[in-house]
Amino acid sequence: MTPHSEIPNNPKREVYAVSFILFLKFPTQFFPVKNSFYFKLIILPFLWGFLSCQNDHREKRKPEKVVETLADLGALPLEVIHPADNPPNAEKIALGRLLFYDPILSGNKDVACATCHQPEFNYAEFMETSIGVNGMGNGSKRHFLIPNDIPFTKRNSQSVLNTAFNGIKNHEPYRAESAPMFWDLRAKGLEEQALLPIATLEEMRGNSVTEENILAEVVERIRNIPEYYQRFAAVFAGDPNPVNEKNLGKAIASYERTLIATNSRFDQYMRGDSNALSLSEKDGLRLFLKTGCAKCHNGPMLSDYKLHTLGVPDSKNREDSDAGINGAYAFRTPSLRNLRYTAPYMHSGRIANLEQVLQFYEDISGGKIPNPKVKPEQMDTLATQMNVNFKDISRIVQFLNTLNDDDFDKSVPERVPSGLKVKGNVE
Ligand code: HEC
Ligand code: HEC
Repeated sequence: MTPHSEIPNNPKREVYAVSFILFLKFPTQFFPVKNSFYFKLIILPFLWGFLSCQNDHREKRKPEKVVETLADLGALPLEVIHPADNPPNAEKIALGRLLFYDPILSGNKDVACATCHQPEFNYAEFMETSIGVNGMGNGSKRHFLIPNDIPFTKRNSQSVLNTAFNGIKNHEPYRAESAPMFWDLRAKGLEEQALLPIATLEEMRGNSVTEENILAEVVERIRNIPEYYQRFAAVFAGDPNPVNEKNLGKAIASYERTLIATNSRFDQYMRGDSNALSLSEKDGLRLFLKTGCAKCHNGPMLSDYKLHTLGVPDSKNREDSDAGINGAYAFRTPSLRNLRYTAPYMHSGRIANLEQVLQFYEDISGGKIPNPKVKPEQMDTLATQMNVNFKDISRIVQFLNTLNDDDFDKSVPERVPSGLKVKGNVE
């Protein structure tokens, strides 16, 4: 049995069809209605099927009542698509990996990309919002050094794992160069994204270099390290000035596209192995669809990559309220893959576990707005009109856990060409 046939779209239509077949097979029993057994067995389902199809016609007039099906979700592809102007090769990936772990990219040489995107935390980290510049320590022990004039990052650190698939949709060609990035979609493609944290004050830049000068400064430093120069010259052969901003972004992006996990039990199920999920996980999947989660969490990444306002509370780590890019408190639907390793949740990291995320949805569908700055008319009706039942929560969480896949590259280079601490000040 294929997975798709296990959750029929319209069970009423099936009853109608079965009744009709019965009618064709036993026409004589259909009319002498004296026998009440045949009446119940044949005429009633037939009538019910007929009436419920009438109902369907009525429902179709209400446009909001669409229920998503398994076909709105998907398995991840096994191949990654790269931008035409940045094909990968082993040397480029190796160079990108060294850069990703090297704090030479930060103003004060204390933060690497990997400081906040650690392999052991699914290429994210588990603070509500991150400490970049002037930080020390790892995991829950990470803190600012004293004195400190650097704020926490504005938002919860996203995972770099599977960003090679950001923006992916079923049945549409994938364009890596325009892949949506960040909680507010402000960057396109991993190449462009990679340069932005370097210039952000609290992430990597710090106060010692201005925003205008930081990229030129970092490129200059890298150019002056012979090992880096040779590696860039070999990878971007033919480029008279191989160490430049564009090539820096290209090398990091090529490495990031190798960080994928595509074989969760959910993927196996969607590829046809109907035993990959247990009965209660299948039930969780059914409830996920029935509740309306897939109105936004759809496609192979379980995200529509669109902005929605849910009224999530602001982070307490910053004074300013985070109203998103358009002032509407709208944030991008996150992927639901590997949630086991990426707590806490939401753009502000304010929700600690999955049960509480589900309780949050139950609250907003009951009319609550957890962020007092968000107005009722700003709330996304796709979320507020869901009917989240308390009794379904644990089953839905069981389903979400089938989206975990721990089998991905977690290797860390032993040294980086700058000779600085691999990953920055984390130990
Ligand atoms: C101080 C912590 C920190 C550092 C250092 C850092 N990041 Fe991030 N990263 C974040 C945060 C926080 C976000 C989400 C920011 C937002 O959406 O506004 C993010 C988002 C991203 C995303 C987007 C993921 C998605 O799904 O849209 C990518 C890719 C990424 N970072 C790669 C990098 C690279 C490459 C570097 C190094 C050049 C880096 N990061 C350095 C914290 C950090
Ligand atoms: C209206 C679109 C929409 C619907 C419907 C919706 N979500 Fe979300 N989901 C989002 C957005 C947007 C966020 C991020 C919100 C934020 O941080 O401000 C999110 C966040 C999450 C997160 C946190 C993930 C992370 O990495 O931080 C989980 C888990 C989640 N949703 C599960 C669900 C489940 C389960 C349902 C159904 C009960 C559901 N969602 C329904 C749009 C939606």
